[in-house]
Amino acid sequence: MQWTINGRVYHAEPDIRTSLLDLLREDLGLTGAKKGCDHGQCGACTILVDGRRINSCLTLAVMHQDDAITTIEGLGTADALHPLQTAFIRHDGYQCGYCTPGQICSAAGMLDEAARGWPSHASADLTAPDLGDREIAERMSGNICRCAAYPNIVAAIAAVASADLRRAEAA
Ligand code: FES
Ligand code: FES
Repeated sequence: MQWTINGRVYHAEPDIRTSLLDLLREDLGLTGAKKGCDHGQCGACTILVDGRRINSCLTLAVMHQDDAITTIEGLGTADALHPLQTAFIRHDGYQCGYCTPGQICSAAGMLDEAARGWPSHASADLTAPDLGDREIAERMSGNICRCAAYPNIVAAIAAVASADLRRAEAA
């Protein structure tokens, strides 16, 4: 069996009941995505599949052999950080860091959802979602931070969202 992860093809022969999270961590050595709860409650395992954020603990690896999978290892590197990684450092958006890969992958997916105009439960205007703090908190509510770094996580995401907005307005 094979998977395309961060633009690279990986081969493995896991049990067909293996979750995508366990494939990444146990079979392929990609340990960026974390296992917090293993049943869809914490968001620590969030990755991007074809650009959409998902909980990798809740899906089977065999279902994703034709998908483009992106993990935190593929979003940025130590020498070329993703803007969200830079913002999390600048805004001190973590303490222990266990939830951080999931937070950042989720934020990347969330910013794309907002750019497409998808509203959330907190959107006052369903036709033009505005990424204020409340909106960001709602959209990121699937990602739990046991250290409660939430204000700084929201500030980091807001900084990237407003930079994206400025770029879009200048284009
Ligand atoms: S480990 Fe997947 S949601 Fe908690
Ligand atoms: S930084 Fe520790 S769980 Fe979020």
